[in-house]
Amino acid sequence: TPRFAIAIDGPAASGKSTLARRLAQRLGLVMVNSGAMYRAVTWKALQENIDPADSAAVVAMLDRISIHCGETGMTSTITIDGVDPGDELRAEAINSNVSAISAIPEVRTLLVDLQRNYLDHTSVIMEGRDIGSVVFPDTPFKIYVDADEAVRSARRSHVGEVDSVAKRDAADSERKHAPLVVAEGAVVLDTSHHTIESGVDAAIEILKQQG
Ligand code: C5P
Repeated sequence: TPRFAIAIDGPAASGKSTLARRLAQRLGLVMVNSGAMYRAVTWKALQENIDPADSAAVVAMLDRISIHCGETGMTSTITIDGVDPGDELRAEAINSNVSAISAIPEVRTLLVDLQRNYLDHTSVIMEGRDIGSVVFPDTPFKIYVDADEAVRSARRSHVGEVDSVAKRDAADSERKHAPLVVAEGAVVLDTSHHTIESGVDAAIEILKQQG
């Protein structure tokens, strides 16, 4: 059967990562977290003391580094110059700088290419902000995950992460290149009043309609 991509987009703390992961388990597909790629470039820039607002310096860094994306089993992996940043990708410094890095067009061009490359060898569920709109605009399978503001901030503080979600969402939605939007053909799934399992069931119903 031909390979395909399922695009899961939405704002921070909407429940899209959990949904995408559980959906991947249920369907036996590889799950790719595209946000980890933007976080990894941010991690490298901070390591090199590059100001994320200095886009010329960030772009120059892109020419020097090598990024590899793949998967172990059903989980996507990423290394930069052979190093897997691991849990450091969730650090506060990354949360507060990643939107500046992801607004740089050259960063996006490089990472979108790596994201599309997955289809050369596997079908994927990919989650992010522009997967249905830019990375895989032709896929019929697109879900936009959302949740009430109150539910999202409660989820984030439950996880114990320090993250100015509202600020990050505003930056991601207002940027010029590939802003967060409900992609053409995407169905909005509001997870506010769903449990994890009922959210996955709802997503599977949406995908059946789209297929
Ligand atoms: O999904 P996550 O919250 O880990 O993404 C981190 C950041 O990476 C987002 O706030 C956004 O700036 C950027 N991102 C993006 N496009 C994607 C995925 C993430 O710009 N497809």
